[in-house]
Amino acid sequence: MAADSPAGGVAFGVSARSCRAAGPGTPGVGKTTLGKELASRSGLKYINVGDLAREGELYDGYDEEYDCPILDEDRVVDELENQMSEGGVIVDYHGCDFFPERWFHIVFVLKTDNSVLYKRLETRGYNEKKLKDNIQCEIFQVLHEEALASYKEEIVHQLPSNTPEDLEDNINQILKWIEQWVKDHSS
Ligand SMILES: Nc1ncnc2c1ncn2[C@@H]1O[C@H](COP(=O)(O)OP(=O)(O)OP(=O)(O)O)[C@@H](O)[C@H]1O
Ligand SMILES: [Mg+2]
Repeated sequence: MAADSPAGGVAFGVSARSCRAAGPGTPGVGKTTLGKELASRSGLKYINVGDLAREGELYDGYDEEYDCPILDEDRVVDELENQMSEGGVIVDYHGCDFFPERWFHIVFVLKTDNSVLYKRLETRGYNEKKLKDNIQCEIFQVLHEEALASYKEEIVHQLPSNTPEDLEDNINQILKWIEQWVKDHSS
């Protein structure tokens, strides 16, 4: 872990989108783009929960309707526990309600306008049902509500993620937050 990153029981969540029913590979709001860039600029460690689950086959059955494996949430939590209690981690996933509350000092929910999101998902070749479900999920802001229900309101932030300028603004804002956090916890 980098010397200037939150340490000792500190984790850091970059998350977006709920819609777990829609399964892995959904969204496209820019979680991975933001999470990786942030990790490289901050020195924090980046963890992609979807990749972790795939590599460790942390699944519990298969969702036929959505044609995707169902995440074994307990095993994912077990797998991450040690790293999370060490701190200095950015977690990327499209849901956050099953992570222990103590893991995160801040949670970001990325928000992409429907028209922009539609184009991004269409580019990925999503079928009509998957497209509709995901856009609908976005409309109802499922994840934001889920995050607010799972974490203290003051640590949940919604960030716009429509343009490259948004991405840059978000990174700068989060880097400032990290810097402040380190200052507040260094004495
Ligand atoms: N702020 C942004 N402005 C414009 N394009 C963006 C922005 N953020 C991400 N993108 C683009 O949108 C696409 C999806 O981004 P990304 O893979 O980071 O999304 P994701 O939320 O991780 O998706 P998934 O849930 O499927 O993992 C990529 O082509 C990426 O380059
Ligand atoms: Mg991703």
